[in-house]
This record gives sequence, structure tokens and C-alpha cells, in this order.
Amino acid sequence: MAAMKTRVLSSLSLAGWMLLAAWMAGGCKPAGPPPGGEPAGESAADTKAAEAAGASARPRWVIGMSQCNLNEPWRVQMNADIRAAAEKHPELKVIFKDAQNDTLRQRQHVEEFVSAGVDLLIISPKEAQPLTEPVARAMEAGIPVIVLDRRVLGDRYTCFIGADNRKIGRAAGQWIVQALGGKGKVVELKGLMTSTPGQDRHAGFREAIAGTDIEVIFEADMKWLEPEARKEMESALARFDHIDLVYAHNDPGAHGAWLAARAAGREKEMKFVGIDALPHEGVAYVKQGILDATFQYPTGGAEAIETALRILRGETVPKEITLGSRLFTRENVDQGGVPLP
Ligand code: FRU
Repeated sequence: MAAMKTRVLSSLSLAGWMLLAAWMAGGCKPAGPPPGGEPAGESAADTKAAEAAGASARPRWVIGMSQCNLNEPWRVQMNADIRAAAEKHPELKVIFKDAQNDTLRQRQHVEEFVSAGVDLLIISPKEAQPLTEPVARAMEAGIPVIVLDRRVLGDRYTCFIGADNRKIGRAAGQWIVQALGGKGKVVELKGLMTSTPGQDRHAGFREAIAGTDIEVIFEADMKWLEPEARKEMESALARFDHIDLVYAHNDPGAHGAWLAARAAGREKEMKFVGIDALPHEGVAYVKQGILDATFQYPTGGAEAIETALRILRGETVPKEITLGSRLFTRENVDQGGVPLP
């Protein structure tokens, strides 16, 4: 906090001063909910209890968490994982902001965290290019940054945490080649192609099917969103009278495609493969027979908090922390899936 105060004091506008005064009076708690943010997850009773316990119960470090879109189950899980990990450390306070899938709003959130002088920033950016500069500016202001799940461009951040999306895409491609006996007509529903997981899940998949008789007859960017995937799949169904398999870059996309196929009475004609494998989403779809396979994409929330603590304590952390993945199919889902080699 001491470093934070010095940094903030040197560059404040009048409005900034007033905000800061209110924040500090509340024990470094922002006055009112953060703009565009979800509630900070703290009740009045919690605050009273903390105040009664005296200054020692106050957090030593404030972490700003910039989430690109909380309107997706996987991101709700990421925030929950971050919150659960942070709750084990009373010296940490995490302030969450949700950009609601709006890149400009997310840029603004990062700028707000920088001018408030948080001790560390965690960001899961919507898109790589537009968030690169704001992240670099946070670094220039002396705020360490953990980039989580989707990348920014270049290397001006402290640490990137995420699974290897190219490897997951390749594993999906290999599974698909096997499942179709090396030949078939496939629809690829891509994640937002201005985000790195979309690019990598696409590239890895194409690598794995190269030289086989798997033909991608339709591809579209469904921007990670189930309703978009459903709409794109309706077009694919209207154009092609036979489809062997749908590869969607996430489980909401695969489910959207399945809904479209079911509405057309064609869901039994084809297989569905997704990525994420949340227990209550993709894994449940596999158990219900909706998806044939899903690949786990861990949120990295707990690892982000562990790494943040290490950075805040002055330890050196690796530039890249790569998380593992698991494959869930109808055959292995009851045994908890199998790890990717
Ligand atoms: C949620 C999500 C996940 C996906 C991840 C990729 O926004 O689309 O479904 O695995 O982002 O960054």
C-alpha cells in the first residue's frame, strides 16, 4: 500500500483526489460499486467485522481484476476461482470489474485501475491488440500485470497464465480424425478470431487434419457465444444436407450448434466436439449424450492468485505458466476424463 500511495499521490486530478480520499477512508475500499463492475463481494457485515478487528485486518495489497465478459459461465467460474483463492489470504483484496464484452470498456477499466494505483492487475482480455497498450501502460506505472487465458501482443506484462490452446486444438483435431476414420464433412465454429485462443484452437485443429480426408465445409466466427453459434449452425444446416461433425472452439458454441441441429431434427446425424469442460456445462453435456467430446480449459483463477502473491512478496515468477488439459468422452467421463499427454 505504501508504494501505491506514493504513486497515486504524485499524479492526481481533483476528482482523483476526492475518489482516493473516499477510498482510503473506507480502508482502501472503493466508495460504492466500481463502474461497470460486479459487486465487490463484500457485505456491510463483512466490512463492520473487519473494522471491528482493527487496522491489522485490512488488506495489505489491492488487486484489480479486469474480466472481459461475465455473461459466460466459464468466466463466472474464473472469477469464483479467483475469489475463493483470494479469500484464503486476508492480506489481499480483489476488486472485480466486468467489461460486459466491450473492448473499449475494458480499456477504460484498466486505466481506472492504474489511476487508482492498485498493487497488481489481473486481466483476462477480450481481444489481444486493443488491450496491449493499456497493459503496457500499467507496467510503465510500476503495476505488475498477470495476463490470464487470452493473450495481449508482445511481452510487456509480468506473467501469462493459461493452457496451451494450440495443443488443445491439435488434440481436438486428432480426436476428430480418429472418430471419423480419417474422412468426413466438418463444420468449424470459431471463437472470436481477434482473441488468441480462437486463433490457436483453429491453427492446432488445421494442423492435425492436414493431409487427411477431413473436409471443413463451413466455418464461421461465433465470437464464443452460444446464440451466435446457433445462428451460424442454422446457415450450415440450410446449406449442407450432410454434416459428420461440428467442432466448436468452446462448449457454449457446441451446445448452440446442437440446439440448431435438434431444431432441424438432425442432431443424430453428426457428432459435436467442444472445449472448456466445466463440470456443470461441457462435462454434463457429455454425460447427457449431447457432446461426444470436450477438452478442459482450466480458468487459472487459483494460479493467478498464487502468482500474484509471489509477485507482491517480491519473488521472481516465470514469464509463462502453462496449465494442463483433460479430454472427456462418453467412455471416460465417469472416470473423470484423461489428461492430454
Ligand atoms: C469464455 C470463453 C471460454 C473459452 C475462453 C477462451 O469467454 O469463451 O468459453 O474457453 O473464453 O478465452
